[in-house]
Amino acid sequence: MFVKLLAMVFFSFSLLSPFLKSSSQSLDFTYNGFRPPLTDISLQGIATVTPNGLLKLTNATTQKTGHAFYTKPIRFKDSPNGNVSSFSTTFVFAINPRLRVLSGLGMAFVVAPKASLPYAHASQYMGLFNATNNGDDTNHVFAIELDTIPNLEFYDMNENHVGIDINSLMSINSSRAGYWDKTGQFKNLTLINSKRMQVWIDYDGLSHRIDVTMAPFNEDKPRKPLVSTVKDLSSVLLQDMFVGFSSSTALIISSDHFVLGWSFAVKGKAPPLALSKLPKIPRFGPTKMQRFYKNRMRLVSLVLIPVLFILSIVFLVRFIVRRRRKFAEEIEDWETEFAKIRLKFKDLYYATKGFKENGLLGSGGFGSVYKGVMPKTKKKIAVKRVSNESRQGLKEFVSEIVSIGRMSHRNLVPLLGYCRRKNELLLVYDYMPNGSLEKYLHDSPEVTLDWKQRFKVIKGVASALFFLHEEWEQVVIHRDIKASNVLLDAELNGRLGDFGLARLCGHGSDPLTTHVAGTWGYLAPDHIRTGRATTATDVFAFGVLLLEVACGRRPIEYQNESGERVLLVDLVYGFWNEGNILDAKDPNIGSEYEEREVEMVLKLGLLCSHSDPLARPTMRQVLNYLNGDAMLPDLSPLDLRWNEMMLGIQHRVGELIMSNGGSSMVDSILSDGR
Ligand SMILES: Nc1ncnc2c1ncn2[C@@H]1O[C@H](COP(=O)(O)OP(=O)(O)OP(=O)(O)O)[C@@H](O)[C@H]1O
Ligand SMILES: *[C@@H]1O[C@H](CO)[C@@H](O)[C@H](O)[C@H]1NC(C)=O
Ligand SMILES: *[C@@H]1O[C@H](CO)[C@@H](O)[C@H](O)[C@H]1NC(C)=O
Ligand SMILES: *[C@@H]1O[C@H](CO)[C@@H](O)[C@H](O)[C@H]1NC(C)=O
Ligand SMILES: *[C@@H]1O[C@H](CO)[C@@H](O)[C@H](O)[C@H]1NC(C)=O
Ligand SMILES: *[C@@H]1O[C@H](CO)[C@@H](O)[C@H](O)[C@H]1NC(C)=O
Ligand SMILES: [Mg+2]
Repeated sequence: MFVKLLAMVFFSFSLLSPFLKSSSQSLDFTYNGFRPPLTDISLQGIATVTPNGLLKLTNATTQKTGHAFYTKPIRFKDSPNGNVSSFSTTFVFAINPRLRVLSGLGMAFVVAPKASLPYAHASQYMGLFNATNNGDDTNHVFAIELDTIPNLEFYDMNENHVGIDINSLMSINSSRAGYWDKTGQFKNLTLINSKRMQVWIDYDGLSHRIDVTMAPFNEDKPRKPLVSTVKDLSSVLLQDMFVGFSSSTALIISSDHFVLGWSFAVKGKAPPLALSKLPKIPRFGPTKMQRFYKNRMRLVSLVLIPVLFILSIVFLVRFIVRRRRKFAEEIEDWETEFAKIRLKFKDLYYATKGFKENGLLGSGGFGSVYKGVMPKTKKKIAVKRVSNESRQGLKEFVSEIVSIGRMSHRNLVPLLGYCRRKNELLLVYDYMPNGSLEKYLHDSPEVTLDWKQRFKVIKGVASALFFLHEEWEQVVIHRDIKASNVLLDAELNGRLGDFGLARLCGHGSDPLTTHVAGTWGYLAPDHIRTGRATTATDVFAFGVLLLEVACGRRPIEYQNESGERVLLVDLVYGFWNEGNILDAKDPNIGSEYEEREVEMVLKLGLLCSHSDPLARPTMRQVLNYLNGDAMLPDLSPLDLRWNEMMLGIQHRVGELIMSNGGSSMVDSILSDGR
């Protein structure tokens, strides 16, 4: 019987013992996430639990508090007036800013007498106290704040600190957020940056030491705590207390505060959290607007990148095509024989720096002449751009130009090469450093030539023309002899340029063409009448050039007062009639000259520009006269009297026809009277 009783007592003791133990021994709990069904956690205010197990203390509602408490009381003291036992807790949290600029407030781990804080205020009070009870010892509230706004009222150090609070928001010790890493280095942590972080809070019941430690997620607990203090909590905490979290929102500034996992223990170490099991936090910036913009940006870039790619290809192709077109030239089979002197348009383009205006030497009836430097040889060139609308007869033209260009004569401007494009022909000549004869003769030139130099030029041009007429295998008619087509090389030798170019206007095999090409004033009357260029028409123009060089006057000049035309030929006749032909000479030739030579040149000029082609000398004779190998026949002004009249009539007719043209017209279209 006794044994039975004893056994029963023993049995009931053994049954009771767990309960006895629980009141005096350790207690702990662990939440690796707060997944439903959630037991022993009470949510208050705006605190919620998300379906994936996040404890979310705040949401977008303004000026509200959010609390989450473990519903069972925790026995902190073995007797009502006893000492507070050691306790330890750890949790993982994250704070998402809702707006990057206006974020703040923070959250706290709290130990309170009840499982609620109904009178606590939102905003800066963090759901822990209110304006009247802040700092009141009867609160019996112990908290660790993760504060993210600097509140001067509570002497907060900055907008990112961890503090130990007892009955008041004025922390008894605090530190900027961070941790001491393994090497003993302090590393800052930013509370509001959507990163998960872990906090450890330990109270030692014997030494009364409170240690708060934090670290980034997945890092071991640092050895050295972040902030600590020594404070006996026996007067603060009651025998049974409740533990939980608190946070709040303000009028505008707010963040989302999350607790991902939590464990707690009295009289022992808080069990470690299973970090891998914790729920994920939502990424920062998931407001509808931001998502919309983000998606739109993604869409835009998805569309934009291929579009840009295609566009750049299109531009590239266009660039290449344009470049091709820009440098396009035409080469036909018959040109293979000229391959040697055919030049690339690209080279000419670069040589003249893109046919720039400032490289322009001058423009004439056929096109413009540009100065250039060949890129490889550094040779100076003059490029004549001739536009040819009519392509017929071009082959003959090119071959003639090229064959003439290939013959070398010291008084011809050397042709270096040519290039042909769709509507133009480019002729490349040696650059003549001293320019054309024209600029030394007219309009009171800065530099002029003395008689010796002029005579040398005349003889040079005569020998070039003789060469074209008689020394070459076929007769070549220049067609455009005039001062601007006589160029002076470095030694001031006269060199004839633009040979055969006038053919471009009178192209075609019909010698009786109705087009007359040449320059007015140098045109022989028979040329105008028949439309046909002959060696005698070249001699006529050469005669005019002789008079021009000797007199320093243009073939046709305007009288200032009446605007009437004065023919140079008439003028020279006038002086001859008066008995002193030398009065016609250019006063700029200086005093050193041989009267005999000047007189001979003036008379030869008149003879060459005789209106009857048969009366004109040939270039061979002209050369003989100039070289003094033959004497000019003795002529009197009366012998040429009829010539003067004829010329006068011719020019008046011409004047009527060209009423709208200038005096230096190149292409005068004239009916040949048939
Ligand atoms: N090889 C060259 N070297 C230097 N300058 C030149 C050369 N060829 C031409 N020029 C210059 O370019 C200017 C224009 O020449 P262009 O032949 O186009 O016209 P023009 O001789 O006045 O008339 P035309 O078309 O009847 O020949 C000339 O006045 C001359 O000064
Ligand atoms: C915040 O949470 C509370 C409680 O769950 C709810 O009543 C309120 O509508 C929520 N506010 C917003 C803006 O989601
Ligand atoms: C509380 O601790 C102090 C020493 O820190 C000790 O003297 C005292 O007896 C303890 N009180 C109780 C009720 O255990
Ligand atoms: C502050 O809280 C206390 C209880 O702790 C309450 O009695 C008091 O009325 C509250 N004051 C305000 C202003 O809410
Ligand atoms: C850490 O933060 C403090 C201010 O809170 C600042 O003065 C310090 O430069 C920071 N250190 C580093 C390494 O960023
Ligand atoms: C505050 O915390 C720091 C860091 O742990 C510590 O060095 C300091 O002594 C503490 N101050 C007080 C008053 O406890
Ligand atoms: Mg010319």
